[in-house]
Amino acid sequence: MDSIGPVGLQQREGAPSCSQEGLPYPSDSSELVLECLQQFKVTRTQLQQIQANLLGSMEQALAGQVSPAPAVRMLPTYVGSTPHGTEQGDFLVLELGATGASLRVLWVTLMGTEGHRMEPRSQEFVIPPEVMLGPGQQLFDFAAHCLSEFLDALPVSTQDLQLGFSFSFPCHQTGLDRSTLISWTKGFRCSGVEGHDVVQLLRDAIKRQGAYNIDVVAVVNDTVGTMMGCEPGVGPCEVGLVVDTGTNACYMEEARHVAVLDEDRGRVCVSVEWGSFGDDEALGPVLTTFDHSLDQESLNPGAQRFEKMIGGLYLGELVRLVLAHLAQRGVLFGGRTSPALLSRGSILLEHVAEMEDPLAGAARVHAILQDLGLSVGASEAELVQYVCAAILTRAARLCAAALAAVLSHLQHSREQQMLQIAVATGGRVFERYPSFLSILQETVKLLVPECDVSFIPSVDGGGRGVAMVTAVAARMAAHRRLLEETLAPFRLNHEQLAAVQAQMQEAMAKGLRGEASSLRMLPTYVRATPDGSERGDFLALDLGGTNFRVLLVRVTAGGVQITNQVYSIPECVAQGSGQQLFDHIVDCIVDFQQKQGLSGQSLPLGFTFSFPCRQLGLDQGILLNWTKGFSASDCEGQDVVCLLREAIRRRQAVKLNVVAIVNDTVGTMMSCGYEDPRCEVGLIVGTGTNACYMEELRNVAGVAGDYGHMCINMEWGAFGDDGSLGLLRTSFDANVDQASINPGKQSFEKMISGMYLGEIVRHILLHLTSLGVLFRGQQTQRLQTRDIFKTKFLSEIESDSLALRQVRAILEDLGLPLTSDDALMVLEVCQAVSQRAAQLCGAGVAAVVEKIRENRGLDELTISVGVDGTLYKLHPHFSGLVAATVRELAPRCAVTFLQSEDGSGKGAALVTAVACRLAQMDHV
Ligand code: BG6
Ligand code: GLC
Ligand code: GLC
Repeated sequence: MDSIGPVGLQQREGAPSCSQEGLPYPSDSSELVLECLQQFKVTRTQLQQIQANLLGSMEQALAGQVSPAPAVRMLPTYVGSTPHGTEQGDFLVLELGATGASLRVLWVTLMGTEGHRMEPRSQEFVIPPEVMLGPGQQLFDFAAHCLSEFLDALPVSTQDLQLGFSFSFPCHQTGLDRSTLISWTKGFRCSGVEGHDVVQLLRDAIKRQGAYNIDVVAVVNDTVGTMMGCEPGVGPCEVGLVVDTGTNACYMEEARHVAVLDEDRGRVCVSVEWGSFGDDEALGPVLTTFDHSLDQESLNPGAQRFEKMIGGLYLGELVRLVLAHLAQRGVLFGGRTSPALLSRGSILLEHVAEMEDPLAGAARVHAILQDLGLSVGASEAELVQYVCAAILTRAARLCAAALAAVLSHLQHSREQQMLQIAVATGGRVFERYPSFLSILQETVKLLVPECDVSFIPSVDGGGRGVAMVTAVAARMAAHRRLLEETLAPFRLNHEQLAAVQAQMQEAMAKGLRGEASSLRMLPTYVRATPDGSERGDFLALDLGGTNFRVLLVRVTAGGVQITNQVYSIPECVAQGSGQQLFDHIVDCIVDFQQKQGLSGQSLPLGFTFSFPCRQLGLDQGILLNWTKGFSASDCEGQDVVCLLREAIRRRQAVKLNVVAIVNDTVGTMMSCGYEDPRCEVGLIVGTGTNACYMEELRNVAGVAGDYGHMCINMEWGAFGDDGSLGLLRTSFDANVDQASINPGKQSFEKMISGMYLGEIVRHILLHLTSLGVLFRGQQTQRLQTRDIFKTKFLSEIESDSLALRQVRAILEDLGLPLTSDDALMVLEVCQAVSQRAAQLCGAGVAAVVEKIRENRGLDELTISVGVDGTLYKLHPHFSGLVAATVRELAPRCAVTFLQSEDGSGKGAALVTAVACRLAQMDHV
């Protein structure tokens, strides 16, 4: 099927050349008519070219190309999601511009349940020609008047009506309720409207009218109403196609493809405005002399060239021009014309559709043309029908080429081999001329065989869709309010953060003095950071973070070499008996020694033990309480070094010399201090969170001596356990705390560290679901599962390089099926939770560095902080936010953050090295 002519014509070509009355018509007339109609044939190659050209223009426009201006506009509509089917309420709809010279007002009731529909009430008003071409204010006053007249006849109160405005002309939208008319199309030309916000013009007119209190909530193009009103089938309708007075389509586009939006998340409905395609001559090869005449006589010559070959406003006119031409050439009507035939607008779409009808059409030809003052010869009716069929068929084929461009774009950008998609169709051309749809379908299949398209007729001429958008706009605004209310307590302002910093500094001072404080401020007996003179081979253990590690650390003049192995600590061991835990640790050491060929050697051992310990010396640490996921029995209150030595004794084969026990913060500070002598603070933001720093010995109660420094393990995870963070704690924090193995403990840690952030997010998601804001209000079993939402998901989801589609994939992997709107909200929840965590952590660091600055009586302090922990290292924004908060809260401190590369085991080895050196000196 290479050459494409009117379907009716092809079907009838083989039939005997007889009119309905059975009389032969003059063969020369029929040949001349067919010859004339040849011009309306569009070949498959031409259709493919149109498809390709339009696709090119669409992509240029999406990419924001300005010069030369692309042939189509691709206008974003601010409709970001297809309907849920749960929308409900009463809405007023005003339609202007879709259907010729009439305006429609509808009262639409949405039932909130898919499939349940209530017929809308509607009324059509004819717009007088002088209003269509007069001042804009007159048009909008007319619209406001129609609204009042409609409402007067309804039993409604005057209060707070929500209106959706279907305004079907090319507009620049800047919001769901802000839309500036670019240019009139289709028979309208009111002054003072182009370049103005049509929502405002309507609001002003409604106010002038004064009768009703109507809020214009949303403005939409008719294509959008068509798409949105479509009953969802297997999947949602994501394309809206209108062939009415004019023609156009809209579809759901990834927002990141729309350059003008500068938005990389979610989808947005884009109105192609394909009516203007070909204004740049791209249609040259398929334009006929009739198209040129029609264009010249139109209100907008040179514009909307594609629309003028397809839109219902023009099809009758094309038929009229062809018939007049054939009459003037003596081919039809005995060479006679009539004043009506020569007058613009005397043949309408309705006439063309009726005349084309293969069954009853011939009779209608006689009647309709008789009304125009023409007498149609017996054999001529069928020829007139050919003319109608040729023009209608061409329109359907061209429309198919344009739709094919949209579909192939979607198929490409969604990277699907076979795109399954539903297209909602609307407009009088579909209604009046049923073959339009079948020709369209057949041609689309030919042009984009890789798309499986179902066509779904719109409901209530798009009015329902407009109500849907209005409902969605209202719902989205309500959901956004609920989301904002939920997240508001997570958004901390400067005053709140400064208060945290101040409270922290006060708690530090109290803790150091030995007064009641949620900060224990534990002395570590580490008195200096490394000076580079440390040497030797050491064993190190690193227990308490994500991984348990055994390390061999060789400290030489040339630097530090580390060999390490990760061992797992199963949860049953971490939460079993203490003896079992320490036996397991020793088993791992033995295994490591064997693998490293160290069996039998008794290397000095440094033990990073990342839990709060009261130390009485470097090699004595009494576990105060377990934190994070540990709860092994019979350990709290015991010296951890003794527990380890006992386990070594039980396992008689090994000899180990435990020299030092260090907290991971201390190990990290020492490890980074080896590279940078300014590193006097250690920070961990991983499974748990904590900090240590070098304090003046004179400030440390309970340790003898007034000179020099001592590293203090703050155990800041417990900050606020005395209730001092009360105002900042949300109900979600309380939920997480209650479900933990240590309720009431580690308040600060539970707002910051990796073990808890995912849980906070999960509780917020549960709450938003219960409010109906997320997952359409449907609770999933998965989301009820503790720890299902790992903190690493926050890091993944918040990664800048991720498209929303990937965010969805991550969540779908968790068994959470969600929409783009849901995904966007989940992302915002993650951001709020991790931002609060980073800011609180920053407030803590600010307190520490300010304390050091004040200790030293300095105006300005330059200092480094050694940091470790998976949350800090893997989260895309955490470290930046911590640093920004510290800059804001401690402006007199220049703080450099150093990420620990080697873990805290290296630091533990360095502490051990110093201790060994001092011990040797004691011997000497
Ligand atoms: C590691 C250190 O790199 O970071 C550990 O070696 C520390 O000592 C840990 O406990 C903290 O991070 P996470 O994320 O493993 O808890
Ligand atoms: C015209 C308008 C467009 C509308 C279409 C169908 O092309 O410019 O906005 O969608 O007609 O009514
Ligand atoms: C917990 C521990 C603390 C450790 C921190 C980071 O808060 O109590 O000792 O430093 O986690 O691992």
